[in-house]
Amino acid sequence: MKVAPSILTANFIRLEDELKSIEEGSDYIHVDVMDGHFVPNISFGPAIVSQIGELTKLPMDIHLMVEHPLDWIDKVIFPTTEFITIHAECNRFKESIRRILYLGKKAGLAIKPSTDVDFIKPYLSQLDLVLVMGVEPGYGGQLFIQNQLKKIEELAQLKEENGYHYEIQVDGGINVSTAKQVKDAGATIVVAGTFIFNYEDRKERIESLK
Ligand code: DX5
Ligand code: ZN
Repeated sequence: MKVAPSILTANFIRLEDELKSIEEGSDYIHVDVMDGHFVPNISFGPAIVSQIGELTKLPMDIHLMVEHPLDWIDKVIFPTTEFITIHAECNRFKESIRRILYLGKKAGLAIKPSTDVDFIKPYLSQLDLVLVMGVEPGYGGQLFIQNQLKKIEELAQLKEENGYHYEIQVDGGINVSTAKQVKDAGATIVVAGTFIFNYEDRKERIESLK
């Protein structure tokens, strides 16, 4: 299992130390951009994303929780940007996927808890990552919604049947027990915020998820 700590719940006063504390054992740094419209919260914008990119050698996995991703995609292209994930519920998501790929980055598509896999089925062949939200996007520290597990299974089956290459990522409500559940369902990357950043021994927390 690959692990992507979510910087959202880190202490931003000590950003550099926080990033260093999770480097060992992690595969990506998950970076949540929110616009206050698509979700009822605001996190940070491209300037902070750029600084995060400079403070860690981990590749950035950028999760755009914004209404108009086409206004933001070009602004989060940095040397260590690996994935840019947009939501299937946002404006012009098909053009957004094309834009990410055109700019040479890996494209991810996220679905909220109420969005079915059927809705994104036609686009699966183009994707490098599918993100299944385990909670309503917007805040860290919520409980995993159990009925999302069947979407992970469905995505794993479609991947197998069609030879697709996307990672199956799960974000929200991840701890040791939900990480095990999503792994059994077919997930390949877990995102974890509070489970890692609210505790001192981050290396041990990351290992426990792997
Ligand atoms: C939620 C964000 C998540 C968040 C997860 O909208 O997309 O990345 O940081 O936090 P936890 O792991 O605490 O649920
Ligand atoms: Zn996220």
